[in-house]
Order: sequence, then structure tokens, then C-alpha cells
Amino acid sequence: MTIRAFVMGHPVAHSRSPMLHGYWLKRYGIDGSYERLDIPPAELDRFFQDFRAAGWAGGNVTVPHKTAVIPHVGRLDPAAEAMGAVNTLWYEGETLVGGNTDAIGFIGNLDERAPGWDARGGHAALLGAGGAARAAIHGLRQRGFTVGVFNRTLARAEALATRFGPGVSAHSIGELPAALAATDLLVNATSLGMTGQPANELDLAALPAHAIVYDVVYVPLETGLLRAAAARGLRTVDGLGMLLHQAVAGFTHWFGAVPEVTAELRAILEADIRAKTPGG
Ligand code: ATR
Repeated sequence: MTIRAFVMGHPVAHSRSPMLHGYWLKRYGIDGSYERLDIPPAELDRFFQDFRAAGWAGGNVTVPHKTAVIPHVGRLDPAAEAMGAVNTLWYEGETLVGGNTDAIGFIGNLDERAPGWDARGGHAALLGAGGAARAAIHGLRQRGFTVGVFNRTLARAEALATRFGPGVSAHSIGELPAALAATDLLVNATSLGMTGQPANELDLAALPAHAIVYDVVYVPLETGLLRAAAARGLRTVDGLGMLLHQAVAGFTHWFGAVPEVTAELRAILEADIRAKTPGG
């Protein structure tokens, strides 16, 4: 019988998850499907009422449902509990589990693209306080980094410092330039620099020479921030690998095989992004 999984969101047309899971299903010869479901918020209750009868093995959850699905699951995994958000659903026995693999994706990408990044511990300056920032904080704390959260809306940064506790501090965005000299890893977890959004104008001159610059934005693949970092000779990490690495655990739960993040898969997604991004 065909194993069925999904990505649900609203809108969801832009999601590259079907391309990614479709590639793995084919590569491993699995009788499975991965479907794109546009579920408006008003239809969320109904979706979960019908969930079991529809025969889903599970799926991915994206904006705007990552928090709204929480009351519909039997239990949360520790990462979803810590982040207050769910990106992956799967069954364990009869229990529908709401998990979050975004922190694994964030860290898996760093491990792949900047090996040794955490060898001596360190401090991260994180720009942003939304969903991507939560994943970054959870992952970085697990690897022993302290994190300064810098956000346009200070109250949202403060809420994250309270949620995650010691090792995480909150700051206004205006404090970021002065903090760069003591930063080992700079992360952009805002939409700044994304195609169609305002540019990220941060001046990187004060970053130490060993600093790594990580942009979770992957459309375009090389953002202005990463270009500026590369021009300074700093190591850079783009956001595409986060998408690839967060998908591994979900695929494993639904389809029963541990998929590999290969150079070929990355190249397929890169080509798709470049084809659809002006100047990408
Ligand atoms: P995501 O889940 O992708 O992280 P989000 O929850 O909408 O998305 O968060 C977007 C982040 O980008 C926020 O930190 C937001 O800052 P605010 O909390 O002040 O809204 C940040 N952001 C978006 N546009 C911005 C801009 N023009 N300048 C500075 N920060 C911006």
C-alpha cells in the first residue's frame, strides 16, 4: 500500500519539500507519495478530524500552522516542546507526535558546511526572533553556544530569552554593530535579504577573522550578507542545507529509510531556486 505524507500550510504552493521528498522516494524505490495541502486556518479542525481516516503516515507543517497544530497532537517531542512550534507530524503506535526538526536542520547544515564550528564553544549573535530564530537558539544551546538575540521588536527577543532561559540574552537591533567584535557566529534569521524584501545592510567590518556568517535565507542562495562576508574572507553558510537536513527525520519516520543529503539533491534544488530567482 502506498505510504502517504504531506506538507500542509497556507499558502503552500512555494514549498520545495515535495521536490525534496519526491527525489528521495524515487531514489530509494519506495511506494510512497508526498502531497502539497493548502489548508486555510478555518479548516484546521476538520483536517485533524479526518486525519486518521485519510490514512496519512504524517507530514510537514508550515506557516501559519506551526503553533496551531499543537492541540491536535497526542504529544510533543522535546524540541517542539522547547520551541513551542511543530514542523513534523508522525505516528508512534497510535499516538500522533508533533515534533520539530528545524533545529536539527539548522545544526546539521552548519556541521556539513562549516565543520569544527563548535570545537571551542562560542557566542552567536542572532538577528531575528521568529520561527527560524527559535530553531537556531534551540540548536545552538544544545551545542553549548551562548546566544544574543537582536530584533527590531525588542519584546519578541525578550520573549525568546525568557523561553530559553540562561545563555540567551535579548537586545534591540541597534545594539548589534557593537556586539560583532565578540561574535563567533553571526546568524540572520529574519527575512531581510530575501528576494522581494529589504536588503540586510549590516556592516561586518567588526567581526573577528574566525567568525562564520550563516544566513537562513536561501532565495537567493547568495544573499547580500553572505556576499559581504565572503568578500571579507569569512566562512559562510547558506540556508538551503537547513531545508535539506530538517527533512531527514520526517522521511525516516514516514517511509522507514534514512535518506542521504547528497550533492546531487542540493544541486537539483539550487537549479530550481536559480531558475525562479531574478539574478539568483
Ligand atoms: P520566520 O518564522 O520565518 O522566522 P517571522 O516569525 O515572521 O518569520 O519572523 C520574521 C523575523 O524577521 C522577525 O524577527 C522580524 O522582526 P520583528 O519581530 O520586529 O517583526 C524580522 N524582520 C522582518 N522584516 C524586517 C525588517 N524590515 N527589519 C528588521 N527585521 C525584520
